Amino acid sequence: MQAKAAPSADFRRALAQYATGVTIVTTLAPDGTPTGLTVNSFSSVSLDPPLVLWSLSLRADSLAVFRECEKYLIHVLAVDQLEIAKRFATRGADKFGPTAWRPTDDGLPLLEGCTAWFECGNRSQYEEGDHVILVGRVEAFQTIGGAPLIFHNARYVSHLAEEPLPPVLRARWD
Ligand SMILES: Cc1cc2nc3c(=O)[nH]c(=O)nc-3n(C[C@H](O)[C@H](O)[C@H](O)COP(=O)(O)O)c2cc1C
Repeated sequence: MQAKAAPSADFRRALAQYATGVTIVTTLAPDGTPTGLTVNSFSSVSLDPPLVLWSLSLRADSLAVFRECEKYLIHVLAVDQLEIAKRFATRGADKFGPTAWRPTDDGLPLLEGCTAWFECGNRSQYEEGDHVILVGRVEAFQTIGGAPLIFHNARYVSHLAEEPLPPVLRARWD
């Protein structure tokens, strides 16, 4: 359907055609409570300086914590972390209780089993519409690798197309 002023459901359906990975962003609340949520709005912004972004709903319970925190950790999820993705997308759930994690030297909650993580300074925020865009300066990161969890058309997807793409589509751009 083509729509100029798309009603919300149609707009969501169109956006959902864009396949993404799945991340979990975590930090510590001022009282030391581990805090986090599932996020697929993650994107790279800049290589030098190293910047990434994600957007957070103004209705999220964790909004105040992420607006105020100094640092957060972004975890790129592996395909076998489906249950963790669901748990961290559930408002009011016991997110950290049943999850394998350990504190970093800074005390941030680092989830085990992800394919990569980025430790970010909370650099800038831009409120737009019903979300706030958070730009993070990457201060540390680790690549672990492995099969990614994918989100497409409002569903978690476990594997990419079997057919390898022609090499030109996989070329580096630098
Ligand atoms: C695959 C997936 C991706 C999501 N991406 C985002 C996102 O980018 N930003 C956001 O604010 N919420 C996103 N959510 C919704 C939050 O994970 C969910 O509302 C969560 O319960 C918010 O936690 P909180 O209210 O405890 O802060 C996503 C949910 C799913 C299932």
